[in-house]
Order: sequence, then C-alpha cells, then structure tokens
Amino acid sequence: MHEIVDRVRHITRENERLFQRLIEGERRFRGLAKAVWKVQEDERRRLARELHDGLGQTLTALTNQLERLQQKLGERDDAAELAPRLADSVEMARLALNESRELSRLLRPPVLDDLGLEAALSWLARTLEQRAGLRVELTLSGLAERLDPDLETLVFRLVQEALTNVLRHAGADRAQVAVSRAGGLLELRISDGGRGFDPDATLVGRETATGLGLRGMRDRLELFGGRLEIASAPGRGTLVSAAVPLLEAP
Ligand SMILES: Nc1ncnc2c1ncn2[C@@H]1O[C@H](COP(=O)(O)OP(=O)(O)OP(=O)(O)O)[C@@H](O)[C@H]1O
Ligand SMILES: [Mg+2]
Repeated sequence: MHEIVDRVRHITRENERLFQRLIEGERRFRGLAKAVWKVQEDERRRLARELHDGLGQTLTALTNQLERLQQKLGERDDAAELAPRLADSVEMARLALNESRELSRLLRPPVLDDLGLEAALSWLARTLEQRAGLRVELTLSGLAERLDPDLETLVFRLVQEALTNVLRHAGADRAQVAVSRAGGLLELRISDGGRGFDPDATLVGRETATGLGLRGMRDRLELFGGRLEIASAPGRGTLVSAAVPLLEAP
C-alpha cells in the first residue's frame, strides 16, 4: 500500500514537472514566433523607407527634370514633334512616382507609427475606396489613446488582410469594419455581404491548398492570446471577428 502511494506521489510530481516544462517550452516558442514576426515588420518598415527615400527621390528628380525640359521645348523648332512624347514621359514618371509612394505606404504606412491605429485604419479605408472602389464603413471606438505598438500592428495587418480578401474573393463593393475597446479586450469585426465561402473546409484543408492569409491571422492572434472566428457560408457574406487582450499575459 505504502509503495503504491509513494509511486502515485512520484508520478504526480513527475507530471507536474513535465507540465511546467511544457508551459516553459510553449512560452519560449511564442517568444520566438513573436520575434520572427517583429523582424518581418522591421524589414517591411526598412523596405518602405528605402522605397520612399531612394526610388521616390530619384523619380521626383526625374519628373522635375522632364518638366523643365517641357518648359524649354517651346523655344525650339521641332517642338511640335517632341511635345507629345515629352508629355507622355512626364506622365509616366509621375505615375511611377505615385506607385512607388503607394507601395511604400502599403508595405508599412508611416501613419501607423506616427499617429496610431485610428488614423492608419482611416487611411486604409480611404485608399481602398480610391484605388479599388471598395466602400469601407469604419466604426471605431475607444481608440483615441495609443495602444501597444505590436498590438496596433497586429490589428492593422488583420484588417488589411480581411479587406484584401473582400476585394479579391467576396465580389462585394462595400465592407464594414468595427474596432472597439471593451473592458480588457480589443474586439474587431470585418464583414461583407459578398459571395461567402466554407471556412471550415478552407482552414482545415492542406497547408498548400489555399492561401496563408486566414491561417496567418489566426496563428498571429494566438501569439497575442487572441482568437479568430469566421462566420461565412456560400452566398451569405462573411464575418471575420477577433478578440485580443489589451495587456499581454505575463
Ligand atoms: N471575404 C471573403 N469572401 C469570400 N471568400 C473568402 C473571403 N475571405 C476568404 N475567402 C476564401 O477563403 C480562401 C482563403 O483565404 P486566405 O486569405 O487564407 O487566402 P487567399 O486570400 O486565397 O491568399 P493569401 O491571403 O495568402 O494571399 C480564399 O481563397 C477565398 O476562397
Ligand atoms: Mg487572403
């Protein structure tokens, strides 16, 4: 009898120890995964700046120079022949400049670092409407104060991915985004009235079968102690909702 009690005690202690190791391992894994994600965001920030400052400045100079040539052209005999071509070149240079700026902002909008989530989401909504004709109705509450920068990035990327999905897959011309602060949680909902899909089949399917967007969102949220839910069915629109704690668990 004594022996059995001893053994049970031993096994319980051993279990406890293994459990602690598991928790420790999980914590280290989360830390590592977060670090990888941060490096990725830093790299995006660096690329965005390089694109803006490097390519952007060269294209600005090119545009200016072409415009100066355009002004001087009037004095020459062959102006009539060259003018349309030069006008085309100016137009192309301006286009390339605008595109490089936009790409830079989409990679990592400076407004997210400078002004925070509220301003960055408004910018995203405006850009999607102007660029792609997607009307985004934003309802934001409790975001006046800045949040943890990593959390701001997480939420911005989530909304960006969900809205990109609406554009690419939903066939809808409007979407609703709601972000609110409730108690210790940040809650978000992104919905559309588009063609919908079967989320279970999509998320359970093989890694390579579909894109990484939704899976990536779910995994990243879990790193922050949050959860992702998708409600959708063919023909019935899509609702992506998530909740994430404002303070990280210790
Ligand atoms: N709002 C939506 N409306 C309709 N279908 C959607 C919507 N969001 C996602 N889907 C479906 O779920 C699939 C998986 O989406 P997910 O974002 O994971 O991948 P993706 O957009 O195809 O590729 P990626 O995001 O990696 O570029 C999509 O291919 C699409 O079929
Ligand atoms: Mg996607």
